[in-house]
Amino acid sequence: MSGPTEPEFSGPDRVRLAQSFGATAAAYELGRPEYPDEALTFWDDCGAFERDNVILDLAAGTGKLTRLLPMICNLHAVEPLAQMRAEFSRAVPDVEVLDGTAEQIPFPPGTFDAVLVGQAFHWFDHQVALDEIARVLKPGGGVGMIWNEDDVDAAPWLADVVDEKRATAASTVIGEHPVVEIIDANSGFGPAETFECRWEHLTSVEGVLADMLSRSYVSVLPPDERLTVLTRTRQAIERHLGSDVETISYPYRTTTIWSPLVAATPA
Ligand SMILES: C[S@@+](CC[C@H](N)C(=O)[O-])C[C@H]1O[C@@H](n2cnc3c(N)ncnc32)[C@H](O)[C@@H]1O
Repeated sequence: MSGPTEPEFSGPDRVRLAQSFGATAAAYELGRPEYPDEALTFWDDCGAFERDNVILDLAAGTGKLTRLLPMICNLHAVEPLAQMRAEFSRAVPDVEVLDGTAEQIPFPPGTFDAVLVGQAFHWFDHQVALDEIARVLKPGGGVGMIWNEDDVDAAPWLADVVDEKRATAASTVIGEHPVVEIIDANSGFGPAETFECRWEHLTSVEGVLADMLSRSYVSVLPPDERLTVLTRTRQAIERHLGSDVETISYPYRTTTIWSPLVAATPA
């Protein structure tokens, strides 16, 4: 299988897990990374950030992506969970965030030059969402997607933490989706281009634990099991980096995708 993949969850789990972010919105904001500059440059080179372009951050969460977007553009955000929208409004007060989903975007047809999706396409009903994104794009617009993934080979401490994540996620993840193939299968979009880069997010033990807690498959656990996962994660970090480590460089591999809207063929 070539190209980036995303986790695939079984049907009922996808809905249950997608809603888990509400309960851990503050941990999400504390622990999750933003995105690297090179990824934003890639989208810029694809034409996403021309002056006055109208841009939607779809599934905006707490605004980790929105806050990086250039203010020369006209920025909008949509996010279905109220707790995430509350964190968003604290972190990115200059952008209004509306209630809505990828399957029902609360904007009229032809509104946006770009619709961007950070770390969220795997939660969507893919083809319904792609049709809906195509509906709200202007001719000449495009969709961008981005994922940070643990760069597991880059640091021995991270390998142990990722083992913990994989063991905890095992009951919910049932496979992987090839994202580029999913986009290319939708007649509304042209061939997807991808860009990959590696970078490090500076964080702390509390940051790594908050990141772990905000993972959907951790936050839905019963409290005692959640505590066990967090305790083992802290122990793994301390085993490698010592108990008084202050700053942790967390290595990520980031995949960024851009796919242009295909012009409608005249009847
Ligand atoms: C991992 S978070 C990503 C948040 C943000 N985009 C970021 O880059 O940090 C996934 C987000 O997708 C949202 N979400 C889940 N299902 C969705 C759907 N069907 N439509 C829109 N957003 C959805 C969740 O509420 C959550 O805020």
